[in-house]
Amino acid sequence: MTTLADKNVLLGVTGGIAAYKTPELVRRLRDAGASVRVVMTPGAQAFISPLTLQAVSGHRVHADLLDAEAEAGMGHIELARWADELVIAPATAHAIARLAHGFADDLLATLVLATEARIWVAPAMNRVMWASRPVLDNCQRLQTLGMRLLGPASGSQACGEVGEGRMLEPDEIVAALGDHPRPFLGHRFVVTAGPTHEALDPVRFLGNRSSGRMGFAVAEALAAAGADVDLVAGPVNLTTPPGVTRCDVLTARDMHREVMARIEGATGFIGVAAVADYRPDSVAEHKIKKSEGELALRLVPNPDILADVARHSARPALVMGFAAETRDLANAARDKLARKQLDLIAANLVGEGLAFDCADNALEVFSATGHWSLPEQPKAPLARALVEIMVDCMASKGG
Ligand code: CTP
Repeated sequence: MTTLADKNVLLGVTGGIAAYKTPELVRRLRDAGASVRVVMTPGAQAFISPLTLQAVSGHRVHADLLDAEAEAGMGHIELARWADELVIAPATAHAIARLAHGFADDLLATLVLATEARIWVAPAMNRVMWASRPVLDNCQRLQTLGMRLLGPASGSQACGEVGEGRMLEPDEIVAALGDHPRPFLGHRFVVTAGPTHEALDPVRFLGNRSSGRMGFAVAEALAAAGADVDLVAGPVNLTTPPGVTRCDVLTARDMHREVMARIEGATGFIGVAAVADYRPDSVAEHKIKKSEGELALRLVPNPDILADVARHSARPALVMGFAAETRDLANAARDKLARKQLDLIAANLVGEGLAFDCADNALEVFSATGHWSLPEQPKAPLARALVEIMVDCMASKGG
């Protein structure tokens, strides 16, 4: 039996006739152990009453974006954070088009933009609509945005026709949600995250704008894929993801030492940290005092953790780096891939309002022979997409 114990499932119901199956879906989700809350579009309420879904879910149904009462209790941002899984069932052609284009004019569409939960879409429509070019294009776009399609199934339709476009049955939807592939079960990964701080004196340091969120998201996605994860983190203000073992460090040399101590026997090393390439050649014992004229800093190189791991006698099967570039992204990334002997590199443009210290990011990923473009999205789904690329990369190496 599928287990969704301790999972928070947010069910988004849109205005199709298959909405009549959603009370049964809520019951099945709850039977599988999930807590369920329901969001309805105005169209959905023409097919089924919110009271019915309130009764089966045990919670008030959410319907309005601008609902003062709801915002005082569980408002749209809280709902978005609460959810582990967001299931849109049934998803009409209209709802799919809106989601594919990032609308934010009702509660459900806004939640889709605001959540880091996994998003599942169960289309339900007439077979000719389902086969139409705009619907297929929109569904493809949903998938590139990291959403997962559930069905549709084939069979007799409410309109009297027979064909593809029926919503999956509630038990099939519940089974899909509970089916967590764990491709990295039994494998250990070492991940670095965050900036490093290179001391100048007892109160000052050289650092950078990395928040650590991308590295923490990668660690979390690897743990969800079954891996044991050792996270070596620079100074960040983040909580440790579930299932991840964390070691805090301050400087590049500390990070280098802690990574090397953990590399033996690891399947993968993912260097997400923004490691300082240089450090001051000496740390003043006392606070440096202001004086007339210029102050020159002398910097010496730090060890390159990623390159050292890739050259190590106990080199993990998968070594992946990140590259933050301000120009010529693809060439710089491919050059780093070859120079540091990596299996994969994920590159992004950085600068004003891009990537560093932002919730969203877009990445171009390169291997020696492959290239993947991951469009701008929150770091959690982005990290899950990266883990899928790692799985493909390992499979192509026969690992
Ligand atoms: N990295 C590392 N140790 C360092 C510097 C970088 O492990 N001392 C890792 C980062 O975690 C990242 C990758 O190397 O995965 C890319 O870092 P970057 O500084 O962009 O690479 P460099 O070779 O220093 O190239 P650049 O000349 O662009 O600075």
